[in-house]
Amino acid sequence: MNAFRLQFRFIAPLFLVIALTAYLTVPLVDQFSLRWTVRDLNSRAELVANTISENVIDSIISFDHVRLEALFNRLIANERMLGVGLCDHEGNLRERTSGFPDDITCPIADQVVAQSSPTLKLPRGSVHIAVEPLSRPPLNLGELVLVHDLSFAEKRGEDTRRYLILFFVILGAVIALITVITAHLSLRGWVTGVRELLRGGNPLKAFENPTSELQPLAHELRALLREMEDERRARENPPDLWTPDKLRDLLHADLRGDEVLVVSNREPYIHEKTPDGIVVKRPASGLVTAVEPVMRACSGTWIAHGSGSGDKESVDEHDIVRVPPERPAYSLKRVWLTREEEEGYYFGFANEGLWPLCHIAHVRPVFRVSDWEYYKAVNQRFADKVVASARTDDPVILVQDYHFALLPQLIRERLPRATIITFWHIPWPNPESFGICPWRKEILRGMLGSSILGFHTRYHCKNFIETVDRFLETRIEHEHSVITLDGQETLVKSYPISINWPEPAEEAAWPSIAACRKELRARFDLPEDRMIAIGVDRFDYTKGILERANAVERLLEKHPELIGKFTLIQVAAPSRSELDEYRYFQERLARREAEINERFGGPDYWPFILLAQHQDSETVHRYYRGADVCVVTSLHDGMNLVSKEFIASRNDEQGVLILSQFAGAAGELPEALIVNPYHVEETADALYRALTMPEAEQRDRMRTLRATVRERNVYRWAGFMLLDAARIRRRERIEARLLTHTENR
Ligand code: F6P
Repeated sequence: MNAFRLQFRFIAPLFLVIALTAYLTVPLVDQFSLRWTVRDLNSRAELVANTISENVIDSIISFDHVRLEALFNRLIANERMLGVGLCDHEGNLRERTSGFPDDITCPIADQVVAQSSPTLKLPRGSVHIAVEPLSRPPLNLGELVLVHDLSFAEKRGEDTRRYLILFFVILGAVIALITVITAHLSLRGWVTGVRELLRGGNPLKAFENPTSELQPLAHELRALLREMEDERRARENPPDLWTPDKLRDLLHADLRGDEVLVVSNREPYIHEKTPDGIVVKRPASGLVTAVEPVMRACSGTWIAHGSGSGDKESVDEHDIVRVPPERPAYSLKRVWLTREEEEGYYFGFANEGLWPLCHIAHVRPVFRVSDWEYYKAVNQRFADKVVASARTDDPVILVQDYHFALLPQLIRERLPRATIITFWHIPWPNPESFGICPWRKEILRGMLGSSILGFHTRYHCKNFIETVDRFLETRIEHEHSVITLDGQETLVKSYPISINWPEPAEEAAWPSIAACRKELRARFDLPEDRMIAIGVDRFDYTKGILERANAVERLLEKHPELIGKFTLIQVAAPSRSELDEYRYFQERLARREAEINERFGGPDYWPFILLAQHQDSETVHRYYRGADVCVVTSLHDGMNLVSKEFIASRNDEQGVLILSQFAGAAGELPEALIVNPYHVEETADALYRALTMPEAEQRDRMRTLRATVRERNVYRWAGFMLLDAARIRRRERIEARLLTHTENR
């Protein structure tokens, strides 16, 4: 409607100009055409008179009335000749043909002179009069009067007028049509150009053919965007580090304090009933480790599954509890699931289907229709909770992980203006592997409801884009990593997740390295000089714990001098134990532990200690500080935060990290000893190298590793995503403003 108004405003003056031109032109053309007709009749009458006058004179002189009449009748046979008359020298009408108008009287010349034109307007219509004097000296015989009908000229004039007006109307319509089409095309080109520009594309390309009127606005936009880009760069490459304060500033400045909601399956605090009352636990979860400090910094609401036995008793009437318990900073809103829902959605579809599908760790994914139904229903339930919790219509929503692949699209349908950032914490496989999933298209469509889709590495982004390309009809802009599905744009980008780098005050309160070494050995009944490698994982088949055990065995085979001097302590927090694959894995590892200890151990010596228990984060932290080596041998891992936690804990710049080449972290931490966990020999050699590494080399490596993790901390992870979100929101606001502006003009 507004577009019509806009075009009408443009076209109306055009029509006015055309109408004015027509108004001035039509009478002019009319006049010219009459003048040409009169000129024609003048010369015609002169010719006729010249031809006939001698015969007329003869007839008058000989009083031959019959001949005169015959002559006159011959003349009026012409359809345009109305009548012929003869005025005598005394001014009397002597002869006249039948059609000669009564209104014409002799002498004729007086009437024509009075009119100053050879035309005369009579009641029956206009006529043209030509007068030819008749004389044969010395006789003056009067005048011959020829009267022509002018109505044909009037008729011709009317036709010309009609055609001219029709011509102007068609001309106006054609010009208007061309104008509208051109305006449409240039407006569309202009909007595309602005979009391209806002997205960070090549501004020159975006305005290759700008119309002259749009050029100044394009210049202004470019300047504005350049300023914004400079600001962004300055923030992304800061002279100082990303901190909670800096993240808070970003939220207030760039996101204008907009509402932030987080959705995840795992909750950051679990209330458990014990004989001593309700206690609060922190789950073993990389996701929680990363997102929790961000939520502390920005407040907001975290929506998650309430899975603890004491969770219901700990919330208010809105299912909300303020956390962290010791210093509440944000709201945790719990969603309750039935046993069947948890089995179908979490254990079934998420952990028996998507988890092995994405990790490719030689465990077959299982896809059941009933699990899929629960997965859909639970995603819908969380979408309802998000919509009900949102106080605004454009919140920033951080959707976490593979439990909620359908959630972005479900939220998008209800909150179209929301900025949805989905982070996929696990790897993304190649298209062939992902194609195994029977509901691959639904999953991809669901994820593409996001404004931003984050993975840990570029490799996972590439796999995802190739998967979308294989299974969905979308537009993919590889240059910008943007996928468009049904008009919804999704930026696919890597954001390597990280940890909260400790504050100096926090470090100052840490127990010393010596105390931690002592405590660790005492805890496991080990002598003070025992060399210790530590492994900390969820008890999961993707973590490569069996391969680690094999490497310990091979190490002791190759270096028997280490028997009695080295122990690997493996902390494995039980996880998803309801699932067969996890139980088999736990049993298998327990058997390997027994075999290795039997082969190389003795009454006072266990080379491989498996602690199948959840340990709180403070205890794990002290273990890291007390160990000589940390081993991460995941068969496939999105990032792996244990490696980064170990580095952060070693402010003594000692200790060696062995890291799987299949963990996302390997790309960021090349100073670790990088291994292929499937290669037992290589991993055993890395263990040996780590245990015998000189202190100076340990320091060199650890220093660089620490600088990397300190700089690439979790606030940077969140900050980069939120900066991109702010950029998208700014772009959408400018687009909306431009549209309103264009429509209102
Ligand atoms: O690694 C994927 C992941 O979701 C992590 O984000 C998290 O650390 C872990 O799995 C937790 O698993 P769960 O919630 O099933 O115990």
